[in-house]
Amino acid sequence: MKDDLAFLSEIFKIVEGALRLDATKVRNYSQLLAEKLEANGESASARRLRRLLEEPGNQLRPLHLDQNALPPVDGESRFPLLERLSTRAAESATILTEPQMRLVDEFEHAVKHRAALENLGITGSPSLLLYGPPGCGKTLLAGDIARKLELPIYIARLDGMISSFLGSTAKNIRAIFEFAARTPCVLFLDEFDAIAKLRDDQQELGELKRVVNSFIQTLDMFARDLVVIAATNHEHLLDSAVWRRFTFQLEIGLPDYSTREKLWRQFTSTISLPKREIEVLADLSEGFSGAALKATADRLKMRTITHREPPSLHLAMRTLLAHAGAKPDRWLRPELLDDPLKLHKALTDRSAKLYSLSMISALTGQPKSTLFRHLRTPEGKPHPPNARRTTVHQSHPAQARA
Ligand SMILES: Nc1ncnc2c1ncn2[C@@H]1O[C@H](COP(=O)(O)OP(=O)(O)OP(=O)(O)O)[C@@H](O)[C@H]1O
Ligand SMILES: [Mg+2]
Repeated sequence: MKDDLAFLSEIFKIVEGALRLDATKVRNYSQLLAEKLEANGESASARRLRRLLEEPGNQLRPLHLDQNALPPVDGESRFPLLERLSTRAAESATILTEPQMRLVDEFEHAVKHRAALENLGITGSPSLLLYGPPGCGKTLLAGDIARKLELPIYIARLDGMISSFLGSTAKNIRAIFEFAARTPCVLFLDEFDAIAKLRDDQQELGELKRVVNSFIQTLDMFARDLVVIAATNHEHLLDSAVWRRFTFQLEIGLPDYSTREKLWRQFTSTISLPKREIEVLADLSEGFSGAALKATADRLKMRTITHREPPSLHLAMRTLLAHAGAKPDRWLRPELLDDPLKLHKALTDRSAKLYSLSMISALTGQPKSTLFRHLRTPEGKPHPPNARRTTVHQSHPAQARA
């Protein structure tokens, strides 16, 4: 700790000189600091400082006031180009798999120790590209990372910006990078494909291609002073020149079973569902995004308040399907809900143990007795009342296998 404070007096003098725009004072005390660092065995840091002093562009001059503190706006429309995101409390942290967590950890460490990395000759700040389908936690994760780094996060929504102000895009991008480079923050480039996809598109105008190239140049120019996270749903549109500029790339795909279990548990924590129901929901929601799970859980919670009913699996299943629409690669499809026989078969084929008759009854909202009747006739039609005497319990496939 004492060593960390050894250079404090020089640092204060440098800050004082900078605030008074006294370039000589800043230079003299920076020289002194470099000498002290050298004497202290910190030669790499001393070299870095001396290089900074030699760079021709580094003159002390006041910046225009509104450039200085406020996020930039589009020159003509005054539309804000950056928006500060609020980083939420720790309990809503993004749920990730182990390998994903390890990569995020590595990125955070690299950002925290970037001065040390630079001394090892690794120039340029670490950057992270997040890619994957919508609603799986990219934006949430960017906020989590910023919170852990104790930095504010500014988001640039590139798609909207380019479509609204194409003519001034290059200028706007520069303004964004300039702001982020002199503000301790995480710069979050959302809808990143909006930039990247333009370059290879033969249909696009020369103007767009120029924008992409100038984006890459500007990124390179400011890379040393930025902590950039970018996110895209269309990673296949990114060309290798763009891909290469990110130190870390992380796929945030659709949640796997164990992630879905954790998500359901987090989202329903206030209505505490039994473990078995969480397992059922985690299985049913294969192929759905975290956002669809969240919307479903919210609906369940709302219902428990407005109707004072316990959470219903039937409502959960219907909401899940309504929120996410039908996708061919999901096993749970809306038409299954209208056909108890098919649904029963689909569920018991997946797991006869998990999908007991009581569970199927809870999921379909049909009494067990009705289900029995459907199951006893191949067409799904009920038997006449006097034919319902047989010991259906023993012949029920789900129970026989359970
Ligand atoms: N892995 C996850 N952990 C926790 N919550 C999640 C996760 N995935 C999705 N969610 C929930 O879904 C919401 C939407 O996620 P988010 O906005 O981060 O998705 P996204 O990947 O950025 O989507 P898009 O590509 O559409 O921007 C989150 O606010 C959160 O409530
Ligand atoms: Mg997002």
